[in-house]
Amino acid sequence: MEKYTFAQPPHPYWLASTSDADYPVLDRDIKVDAAIIGGGITGISCAYLLKKAGLSVAVLEADRLGQGATGHTTAKITSQHGLIYNKIKKQMGMEAAQQYAAANEQAIREIEAIIQEKEIDCDFSRQTAYVYTERDGYVQEIEEEAKLAQELGIEANFVTEIELPIKIKAAVSFGKQAQFHPRKYLLALAQDIPDDNSHIFIQSRVVDIDEEKNYLITTAAGKKVVAEKVIIASHYPCYNKAGLYFARLFPHRSYVVAIKAQEAYPGGMYITAEEPGRSFRSLPTEDGELIMIGGEHHKTGQGVDTRQHYQNLVAYAREVYPGAEILYRWSTQDYLTPDQIPYAGYFLPNTPNLFLATGFRRWGMTNSMVSAMIIRDLIVSGESPWQDLYNPSRQTIAASGKTFVVENLNVANQLIKGKLSAVPTDTELEAGEAKVIMIDGDKVGVYKDEKGTQHLVDTTCTHLGCELKWNAAEKSWDCPCHGSRFTYEGEIIEGPAVKPLRTVKGQTD
Ligand code: FES
Repeated sequence: MEKYTFAQPPHPYWLASTSDADYPVLDRDIKVDAAIIGGGITGISCAYLLKKAGLSVAVLEADRLGQGATGHTTAKITSQHGLIYNKIKKQMGMEAAQQYAAANEQAIREIEAIIQEKEIDCDFSRQTAYVYTERDGYVQEIEEEAKLAQELGIEANFVTEIELPIKIKAAVSFGKQAQFHPRKYLLALAQDIPDDNSHIFIQSRVVDIDEEKNYLITTAAGKKVVAEKVIIASHYPCYNKAGLYFARLFPHRSYVVAIKAQEAYPGGMYITAEEPGRSFRSLPTEDGELIMIGGEHHKTGQGVDTRQHYQNLVAYAREVYPGAEILYRWSTQDYLTPDQIPYAGYFLPNTPNLFLATGFRRWGMTNSMVSAMIIRDLIVSGESPWQDLYNPSRQTIAASGKTFVVENLNVANQLIKGKLSAVPTDTELEAGEAKVIMIDGDKVGVYKDEKGTQHLVDTTCTHLGCELKWNAAEKSWDCPCHGSRFTYEGEIIEGPAVKPLRTVKGQTD
C-alpha cells in the first residue's frame, strides 16, 4: 500500500476553515471580577456563563483563541466516554456514575441551547454514538455498559451491527448525542464577551499568579490583571506553586486524519472499546463530506517515531475505505487523571477564589461545559450538584494509588533514562531531521530546516528538567514527563513549562 508522505505540515480542519478572531494583546493593567486563563472552549465557556451571571471577566490567552486542544479535537459532544460508567460505578459507586451521566447529558443540552439561542452556525447535528468491539472478549463488558447506561437514564442500546463497513461483535449505542465545528462555536460564543468591562486578550501569556487581597496576574509582557476570582483553564494548570498537579495529570497524544472516501458515510460517531483505539465521525465541509478517523494514542514523548502513528491511521483508513484520499492530518494532547474523572472546582480546598478545569481524558466537549457550569455555580451560589465528583482534591485520587504510583514511576524513569542515554557528537543531518548531540558535555537538540539552517536548543525541559524527545511528525521537542512541548526554535507550544528552551549558539547554514 502507498506510504503516506509528510510533505505538508499538520493541518487541523477546524483551524483551516475559520479565520482568526481579532482581539487585542493586554497592553495595560486592568481589574475585573474574574480572570480566566486560557482561551479554549473551557475558558470561553466559563467566561460566557460568568458574564451572563453578572460578573466582569477577562480571558487571557497565550496564543490564539481555540488554537490548542479545541482546535485539534474530534469535537464529539457526547456523554459516552468509552466504557466509563461501569468503571466509575466500581471505583466510586452508583451515585457517582449517575452524576457523571447527568452532568454530561446536561452539557449536551446546554451547548445545543446556546447554539439555538445565539443562532450559531457551527454544523451542529444530533448523532448516535457507539462504542464497538471486533473482539469476543469485550462483548460482555459492552452488554453491561448498555444495561447500566439505561439504568442511568441514557438512551442506550446493545446492538450487534453498525453501518460502518466493519464487522463487529457488539456495540453500545447512545442516542441523541451530537457533533459540531468546535472553533466556529467558540468564536461565536467569544463575540459576546468583550464589553461592559469584560475582555478577551490574545497573545498574553500568564507567567505568574500572586495572591494578595485579590489575585494579581502577570503576563509575559509585564501587564497586570487584578481579579477577585481566577479560573485556570489553560489545559495544563499554569500555576505550579501548589497542588502537585504535575504528579496527577498524565499527558497523552493522539492522531486524526480526515479523508475523502468514495462511499457515503452512514452517520453516527464511533469508537472502539479495545486498543489500538479507532474513532470515526463525519465532517461536513465546503468540499463535501469528509470522514475523520482518529486513534493511536500514546504517552507524550514516549514510544515509536510519531510518524508511524499517522502511517498506521492512514493504512487503516485505506483498508476500511479503499481509495481514500487523505486531506488533513493533525494530532492533539490530552491530560488524564488517575481515576479518569476531570478536575473542575476549587484549585485547592483552601482556595475559595482560585478554580481549575482540566484532565478531560479526550472528552473535552461535554466536560468543558460541565466544568464551566460547576465553576459558575460555585462562584454564584457556592454549590454545584457535581462538585464532589469533579472536586480536584477528591479522596478517590488517593484511592487510585496504583495508577498514581505507576504513572509517577514512569516519569521518574523518563527523567533518569533521559539523563543517562548516550548521544553522538556528529551533526550530520538531512533537511527536516533532528537529533540530540553532545556539545561540551551538554545535550543539545539540533534540527536542520528545509533551507539547511540548523537550530540548536538545550533539550532540558524548562519545567522540571526532563530530557526532551524529538517528535518527527510535528517537528517539536516533547517532554515525556509532564507533556510540555516546544518548537524547534525553543518556543513553548504547550505547558506546564512557562519558559522557552535555552537556545544554543552555533546556528549554522
Ligand atoms: Fe515537567 Fe518537562 S513538563 S519536566
